Amino acid sequence: MARVPLIAGNWKENPLTLEEATSLGSAVAAATAKVEGVEVAVIPPYPFIYPITEGRGNMKLGGQNCYFEEKGAYTGAVSTAMLESMGCEYVLCGHSERRTVFLNDDTGVNRKLRAVLLHNMKPILCIGESKSEYDAGLVKSICAIQLAKDLVGVSAEEMKSIVIAYEPIWAIGTGLSATPEIAQSVHAYIRSWVAKAYGQEIADTVRIQYGGSVTPETVDELMAQPDIDGALVGGASLDAEKFDRIIHYKQ
Ligand code: PGA
Repeated sequence: MARVPLIAGNWKENPLTLEEATSLGSAVAAATAKVEGVEVAVIPPYPFIYPITEGRGNMKLGGQNCYFEEKGAYTGAVSTAMLESMGCEYVLCGHSERRTVFLNDDTGVNRKLRAVLLHNMKPILCIGESKSEYDAGLVKSICAIQLAKDLVGVSAEEMKSIVIAYEPIWAIGTGLSATPEIAQSVHAYIRSWVAKAYGQEIADTVRIQYGGSVTPETVDELMAQPDIDGALVGGASLDAEKFDRIIHYKQ
């Protein structure tokens, strides 16, 4: 079954002003209008989500995080209901920066992911190993542990709307992208894990993005791999021209 690739720009804590955010959002929306056969999403900081909804056309929106409790006395929290009402279709769950800087553990990631599903949005579940785990040959076991813990209680039907992003931590923001061969072998492993847990039919529909220093120079070869169904792009998504080239990767 053909999977529609998803290329998403994770803006992280950038840019600094509303003006810059709306200008980047409009540039990406214009570039998105010219691509076919690929889904494009931007994942801005919370305050910039709504201002870039106008005129976004086919460009999808995502949240970088959320809190699993629906509402209440949780100062600083943003719920899935709020993101849904802003027009978000995707929410990042378990990004390595949330895991390491903000100490999100797998139980928290799982709660968040299930809250996203309850609001009919699609979680982008980020998994991946550190440099020392990579060096110790633990890539597959780390991915398997994260998948098992983060997907607790997720049904086969729900699994169809989950996107998995394999993001080796050592490749994020470092310029050290995994080679297409390494990424492909981990993606194939992740798909086989999903097949074992949910059946081959579901595994064939689940999109698995690669993330970690994706650039206009690396995207073509990565996207040529059979189990790479898109990219989660950080740094290069802040540059409209580079992101335009990335979404127009050569097939
Ligand atoms: P990067 O970030 O493209 O800057 O490496 C990717 C990510 O963290 O999603």
